[in-house]
Amino acid sequence: MGSLSNKRVLLGVTGGIAAYKSAELIRCLQGDGAEVRVAMTPAATEFITPLTLQALSGNPVSLELLDTAAEAAMGHIELARWADLILIAPASADFIARLCHGEGSDLLSTVCLASHGIIAVAPAMNMHMWGNPATQKNLRQLRSQGLPVFGPAVGYQACGDVGEGRMEDPAALATMAGNLFTSGLLKGKKVVITAGPTREALDPVRYISNHSSGKMGYALASAAMEAGASTVLISGPVQLSPPERIKTIAVESAAQMLEAALHEVEGADIFIAAAAVADYRPASVAEQKIKKNDDDMHIQLVKNPDIVATVAGLAKHPLTVGFAAETENLEHYATQKLRKKNLDLIIANDVSDTSIGFNSDDNRVLLVQPGANKALPIMNKNTLAHKLIEHIAALLKTAH
Ligand code: PMT
Repeated sequence: MGSLSNKRVLLGVTGGIAAYKSAELIRCLQGDGAEVRVAMTPAATEFITPLTLQALSGNPVSLELLDTAAEAAMGHIELARWADLILIAPASADFIARLCHGEGSDLLSTVCLASHGIIAVAPAMNMHMWGNPATQKNLRQLRSQGLPVFGPAVGYQACGDVGEGRMEDPAALATMAGNLFTSGLLKGKKVVITAGPTREALDPVRYISNHSSGKMGYALASAAMEAGASTVLISGPVQLSPPERIKTIAVESAAQMLEAALHEVEGADIFIAAAAVADYRPASVAEQKIKKNDDDMHIQLVKNPDIVATVAGLAKHPLTVGFAAETENLEHYATQKLRKKNLDLIIANDVSDTSIGFNSDDNRVLLVQPGANKALPIMNKNTLAHKLIEHIAALLKTAH
């Protein structure tokens, strides 16, 4: 697994002699784990054929803004949404100027305008064009807008000059692209995460469950994937769409969640139990809908297996992280769970506060681990998930 694992890179090729290096750049990006698509400006097609880049990338090359067939497949807005990174390499002086002015005169510049992802440029031009004050002013503007500028390198140029302006080496560009992502933190690791509630059936139409929305577990799965991990999400029934690029296994009951966890935990480095698993289930499930006969009704419940404790008890177990949902004595109960379930870390949340915890977009947690508890402030579950993954990745490093 490379530093671009799980990343989608749109390689933007503009008109310049260095366009011939785009072919090798595709290979380097793919070698570092990226899925690559290519968009070319009309001038770029004078230097290298779209067919070459299509064959190497394994995807159709996007060329025209006003191409109905292309728009019907993956139009400029979808392309902008698709890419985690738009890497313009080579970036000509003309394209850099157009990018600076927010022009949308061709497909590639329009995709850049529509993008919310990272746009990086790898300039390639004659040394005098590079040194021109207008080019330098444009570069300063792009940098001040937060666009990473890779290179250029110094050396022999196609026109015979020797100086600054050569496109960076493709392998170096792929490394620079990989460094843009905090990922790499969990590259080569397998992470298994449980999320959402479980449903424990009473009869064919009724069940016992809870208010977990799955938001916390899904955010953790996305953060783990973005950190480069091969991620498996075992999800109880929720209203969220299965996250892209994550193997998602849908389950209903605690028994099914346990079965999936034991299967997936094989070879895993980290197990995170964010699911709100029902502690008890009905002792028996009626085959037919239970009829309303008496004034009161008694349901006998039996204990469900504890999934996270079972995983932590395996002879060859991953770093095991649990959550604790408490309505009082947060630290005390979480510490008890940490010891009882033999976990490496408990992420404790006070679910008596309805602005955090179950079904909200935010959470405030206390990290409980042997020797060092740490409180985090309230924040969005997505932001929190990234912080938790960083913390867990650091724990994994010290554990092995
Ligand atoms: O899904 P959201 O709406 O985003 O809400 C997030 C959340 C509140 C559900 C989440 O942050 C959370 O706290 N999840 C754990 C809820 C819970 O069941 O806590 P617990 O204290 O009862 O269980 C302790 C730990 O044991 C948990 O990691 C739980 O997954 C695990 N467990 C519990 C019972 C069981 N039979 N098997 C388990 O693995």
